[in-house]
Amino acid sequence: MRTFLKWAGNKQRMVERIAALLPPGIRLIEPFVGSGALFLNTDYPAYLLADSNGDLINLYTRLQAEGLAFIDFCRGFFVAQNNTPDAFYGLRTTFNETDDSRLKSALFLYLNRHGYNGLCRYNASGGFNVPFGRYKKPYFPQTEMEAFWRKSQAARFCHADFATTMQHTRPGDVIYCDPPYVPLSATAHFTSYSAGGFGFDQQIALAAQAREAASRGVPVLISNHATPAMEEAYAGARIERFQVQRYISADGDNRGTAAELLALFEYAPIS
Ligand SMILES: C[S@@+](CC[C@H](N)C(=O)[O-])C[C@H]1O[C@@H](n2cnc3c(N)ncnc32)[C@H](O)[C@@H]1O
Repeated sequence: MRTFLKWAGNKQRMVERIAALLPPGIRLIEPFVGSGALFLNTDYPAYLLADSNGDLINLYTRLQAEGLAFIDFCRGFFVAQNNTPDAFYGLRTTFNETDDSRLKSALFLYLNRHGYNGLCRYNASGGFNVPFGRYKKPYFPQTEMEAFWRKSQAARFCHADFATTMQHTRPGDVIYCDPPYVPLSATAHFTSYSAGGFGFDQQIALAAQAREAASRGVPVLISNHATPAMEEAYAGARIERFQVQRYISADGDNRGTAAELLALFEYAPIS
């Protein structure tokens, strides 16, 4: 199943590799759900899907509750007259100013498919500021939204920071963490998915929380770039390395292949 949003760091092409390492469990928890590639391509009895991007979680909650009626509403924005710079910037302003959460969620999807490179970026005051994407005919993901809606009946969505999500886990849960990538070089700036960004200290805090959850009997799998600093941060975990093709990056450069890793933290009581 394919994701209906374009998303930086989307794991669509890696789901089989990730799923093969995930232990069985009653509930899969994704503290960094993004476009939900893993959720869509695994078969756990229940899911807790969280992200710090509130617009993303509101869109999922709306789709889950309304299904086909909401999909129809969203399709109404995918018309030729909305595929011009003027229309795009007008709808972007509406998105940033409206208090109507149904409209805001539909426009989030419109902006995702009509904006530059499918990026999601906000200015310091929280306004969505991605420029027009100049696509010939943006694709409306009808089938993908329907599939997401059906599968979402087994899910609970949560707008939360990863630290909160990870604390609310118990044996029977399995956690998959896909944080914003650590930069490949010291000069590369961090990918900014929402106001605030994700710094190296948060990467370290996540590794510590993974160790803590594993000590309570909750296995945690983390994906990231295979840099020496992250390999050190994940010491004690079972680490698998591989190469992947990259298509989206925050600033449009850095495409090509990059070394990735998957780190699995399994039950090990902290002594
Ligand atoms: C690499 S993307 C996840 C991609 C996802 N696995 C997919 O297949 O689309 C990272 C996600 O982490 C979210 N994020 C960034 N900082 C966060 C934080 N402190 N807590 C929770 N989520 C965060 C971003 O909004 C983004 O959706």
